[in-house]
Amino acid sequence: MSESAVIKTNATSTVGRGKAFTSHSKEAEPSNWSDGQVNLFVGDSLDKYDQWAKPTTIISDGAYGILGFEGDTSDHMDLPDWYEPHIKKWSEAATAQTTLWFWNSEIGWASVHPILEKYGWRYVNCNSWNKGKGHIAGNVNTSKIRRFPVVSEVCVQYIFEAKINGQILRDWLRSEWKRTGLPMKKANEACGVKDAATRKYFDKGHLWYFPPPEVFEKMVHFANTFGAEEGKPYFSYDSIKPMKASDWEKMRSKFKCPHGYTNIWERSSLRGSERIKAPKTNSKSAHLNQKPLDLMRLIIEATTDEEDVIWEPFGGLFSASLAARMLNRKSYGCELDPDYYNLGLERFRTPSLV
Ligand SMILES: C[S@@+](CC[C@H](N)C(=O)[O-])C[C@H]1O[C@@H](n2cnc3c(N)ncnc32)[C@H](O)[C@@H]1O
Repeated sequence: MSESAVIKTNATSTVGRGKAFTSHSKEAEPSNWSDGQVNLFVGDSLDKYDQWAKPTTIISDGAYGILGFEGDTSDHMDLPDWYEPHIKKWSEAATAQTTLWFWNSEIGWASVHPILEKYGWRYVNCNSWNKGKGHIAGNVNTSKIRRFPVVSEVCVQYIFEAKINGQILRDWLRSEWKRTGLPMKKANEACGVKDAATRKYFDKGHLWYFPPPEVFEKMVHFANTFGAEEGKPYFSYDSIKPMKASDWEKMRSKFKCPHGYTNIWERSSLRGSERIKAPKTNSKSAHLNQKPLDLMRLIIEATTDEEDVIWEPFGGLFSASLAARMLNRKSYGCELDPDYYNLGLERFRTPSLV
């Protein structure tokens, strides 16, 4: 058997490369911090999730399989095990409105995707952050690496699959209508359309559409007026009253695309004053993986409204929590390394650092 065909069973080393500084200060150990809107924790996020309000959006920027920080794995094959306990916790806290943004390399994401699916996360779209040629600045010897230089990362959008009475929405809609005893085509009359209801809302496969809330309400009204008496109420999740348009609206994640955006995000890598510097060096980047605030703002604005809750389980310098605060969202962030935690916290205490 060739070496590459051997399936790896043990996790490899997780000693990170490239930590630019270590604080040897004798100051008291860092502790959690909150201003009532942003809540930052130091330690392992796995121990903190139970204290956090339910998320509208989770922004995951954790292990990449490149030894990028202490605790990162040395290759992508260890990533599924690394992420699984977190993904399990996210699923327990998620609602039908929750979006997950999963940052990673292409191969890192590909290895974790089956775990995300297993816990109820449904793939929506893969966005690529193109950092441009400036990211490599001509420093790559392609005859040595024998591939094209990588100047991108992905940020993949997932939604949490909503269920009512154990059924995904598409199946639940059909089965509720069937229970009424009314013919399927009567749904068109209920919704005031020619054939869109049976074609779109009762499709059994990928052509299924989520009925707009006002259309859903018409369907519900019709079913509860003309459906068989013994099965009422129809389209109810508590078996007491039928759902309203406003209840139905909460059964899907939020999404607003700002004008002109596509799934390719052209944005140079973080440089200059945007990059937080390691203390006492004034030149070295404090964290290899600091994300641009504008990209964090983009994804937060797209999938949340003001006052909604963002989770940032792998905080680093807490770029997502900072973007959340700028947009008047609440956030819960956690960072394992006290040095990064302290430096990240400074961004909230000293606005000029942002
Ligand atoms: C890719 S970096 C995040 C960078 C961040 N997005 C930023 O803009 O600064 C991942 C961070 O997660 C932290 N981390 C890893 N495992 C963690 C865990 N279980 N709980 C909390 N933080 C963790 C690492 O120390 C590292 O700083």
